[in-house]
Amino acid sequence: MPELFSNRRICTNEERLQWFREAKFGMFIHWGVYAQLAGSWKGKEIPGIGEQIMRYASIPASEYREICKDFNPVRFNADEWVSIAKDAGMKYIVITAKHHDGFAMYHSHCSPYNIVDATPYAHDPMKDLAEACQKQGIKLCFYYSHYQDWDDPDGAFCWGQWDKTYPEEDKVFERYMNRKAIPQIMELLTQYGPIGIIWYDTPGKLSRYNAQRFNDLVHAIQPECIVGPRVSGDELGDYIGYGDNQVPSGANSLPWETCATMNDTWGFKKQDTNWKSPASLIRLLVSIVSKGGNYLLNVGPTAEGIIPPESVERLHIIGDWLRRNGEAVYGCRGALIPYETQWGAVTGKGETLYLHLFDWKGGPFTFTGLKNRVKSARLLASGEELPFTQAETGTHLTDRLTLTLPETAPDPYVSVVALELDGEAEIDPTITDTDGKVFLTSVSAHICSSSGEPECRRSKNGVIEGWSRTEDFLTWQFTVSQPGEYEVVLRTFTEKYPEKDTSWEGGHKFRLSCGGKELSFTVTDDRRIQPRDLFLWQEVETSCGTLSIEKAGSYTLTLTPEKLEYQKGLGPKLKSVILNAK
Ligand code: GLC
Repeated sequence: MPELFSNRRICTNEERLQWFREAKFGMFIHWGVYAQLAGSWKGKEIPGIGEQIMRYASIPASEYREICKDFNPVRFNADEWVSIAKDAGMKYIVITAKHHDGFAMYHSHCSPYNIVDATPYAHDPMKDLAEACQKQGIKLCFYYSHYQDWDDPDGAFCWGQWDKTYPEEDKVFERYMNRKAIPQIMELLTQYGPIGIIWYDTPGKLSRYNAQRFNDLVHAIQPECIVGPRVSGDELGDYIGYGDNQVPSGANSLPWETCATMNDTWGFKKQDTNWKSPASLIRLLVSIVSKGGNYLLNVGPTAEGIIPPESVERLHIIGDWLRRNGEAVYGCRGALIPYETQWGAVTGKGETLYLHLFDWKGGPFTFTGLKNRVKSARLLASGEELPFTQAETGTHLTDRLTLTLPETAPDPYVSVVALELDGEAEIDPTITDTDGKVFLTSVSAHICSSSGEPECRRSKNGVIEGWSRTEDFLTWQFTVSQPGEYEVVLRTFTEKYPEKDTSWEGGHKFRLSCGGKELSFTVTDDRRIQPRDLFLWQEVETSCGTLSIEKAGSYTLTLTPEKLEYQKGLGPKLKSVILNAK
């Protein structure tokens, strides 16, 4: 370890984040004594996420501590875990060193409540992981619940306290912070070699001053270690983090990350078999990378130390896809187009532009807005050259690139077309019709109001929300190169799980106008669609009617509410308006 301290120097955020920007794909591991319960307590299945079973089942700390006595992950094999990540094409691992339950999954010298001193296993798995990561060239990072600690007498609870042994009014957060959290983070930064990220979580009511202390501590000990975004509730930390399973609707050129589950929970839960398909995982990866971010995909190993086979199988498929198409992911630039597209995603490297096609359809595929001249087009999977035509007048009404795609998809998940260009890719940010679709997302909407400041706003994820007044309306500017009849569809969000459908409140009436034509419609809840990006919320489609666009040119589409329903106080959450050529 001495080399850690011998070359101490100041490190800029840009330098610190270099590997992170290139990594694109990481493995999140939620592993703790909660895995022993696997989602059940005293013979009863407990709803909620696995790693928080202590909260969902209201288990007092004294009883929860008993679980440790049976925790013996004899089948844990660090080399195997790291190989699974590596085989999947992941470049970093973030593992729970201490979750909200307060139990340290490594050998801590400042709290005996840890895997070495409190379980029959009596061994430090993080030591093995650190060695395996070093050997296999993967960055090791630690998740640490710095604010919440449901075991410590002074630790915080974010969502109500069920165990009243230490009443809230007697707690002094700084006592926990100085006695346990800071010393433990120091241990994590000094016992395991270079650490990639300290991934803090749930800052709750942590003061800015204390958040800054957690932040600075990391850089003081390991200047090159990145501080995760959840160190505070207000943008401290070295990169941007979105909420669990939340992917923004548009690009962000600042470094960012989305952490996501493979089923519906993080910590191991036996009953949760709601596994996402390999196709949706790969699309999510591509979509995140194209928007400029990193994908931190979770596995929840069992109490024995086994990564569930359903996860391993999916990771292997993603790895295979990356072995075929990694050129279009690693080292690529994202955020080439500010908004999300309907048909897939775009990445670029040097003078190559990659079109990632999600739903394959043989025949002509048009891509509009590319300002460069295309020298060649080939399928990444097979190397097959594709015929193409390109109008060369340089205005985006005519610079349509049309590729002729073979009938069968070269890849079962996402097929990539590599275009060699005459220079670095330059794409007109104006929205145009691609492949018969105009995709107007919330990210590219102009929020307007007929009286003063609009109240509705764009959330961090790019969703339009807080729509409470009919004075507020949205407009989009776009061009159409192919006139004709377009079917108009509105996409909004509702809760993902119909059984706890709390946020849905349809019935809003809207008026949509474009090119002198008007459509009136009511938002409905009946067409729930497979979400492409956001697994947290369910996307719902409403048919708005047919719009006829008589000639090619520039258009403005306006979406105005006529009546907003407010039974539950949430209002519409708007994702996009889509025009589909009929
Ligand atoms: C939330 C949960 C936590 C989980 C984390 C993963 O913050 O509280 O249980 O570990 O998300 O991102």
